Amino acid sequence: MKDLQRLLDNNRRWAELNAQQDPQFFASRAQGQEPKFLAIGCSDSRVPLEMLTGAEPGEMFVHRNIANQVYPSDLNALSVLQYAVEALKVPNVLVLGHYGCGGVAAAMGETPFGLVDNWLGDIRDVRRRHAHEIDALPDESARLDRLVELNVMHQVLNLARTPVIQMAWRQGRRPMIHGAVFGVRDGLLRTLVTEVCTNAQADELIPLV
Ligand code: CO
Repeated sequence: MKDLQRLLDNNRRWAELNAQQDPQFFASRAQGQEPKFLAIGCSDSRVPLEMLTGAEPGEMFVHRNIANQVYPSDLNALSVLQYAVEALKVPNVLVLGHYGCGGVAAAMGETPFGLVDNWLGDIRDVRRRHAHEIDALPDESARLDRLVELNVMHQVLNLARTPVIQMAWRQGRRPMIHGAVFGVRDGLLRTLVTEVCTNAQADELIPLV
């Protein structure tokens, strides 16, 4: 109960502070949402998407899973995507990976972890495809960092190929897709690929992923 109580106390203070600073803070948000971003991140507790970008409530629609993946068969992610693009009409989708990702590290090695290995299969494929480049790197940490980056680009491509994005682009609506990595060591975001909004741009990612 102690752990939960701390959250409840923090929440009360947070709600009071926001209401003091702006009496309409919650009332205006209760009207609806118009987020500028759908962010797809990792479930890792060190990567709180809104906190590290300063996004206020209402600014970011969020989906998180292990190693920030977009599987074409993941009904959860695809439902979030469809709602964000078609109902909320978000102008941007951000795939955000992070250095030191445990999911990507698990996909790097040969150790089996059970059920989660199914989830990591796609990243293992990316690792195999880029074995030449990754194995040439000087140490394990550099190899992991690179696979984290390649995974983000691969997920940007996966996203671009979903029917939801294809339909939106065809109709001239423009969720631009961006890929970035968060440094858990320095707290900084680094962009890897930005403003992908055509199939030609997505195709250019293929040699990279
Ligand atoms: Co992670």
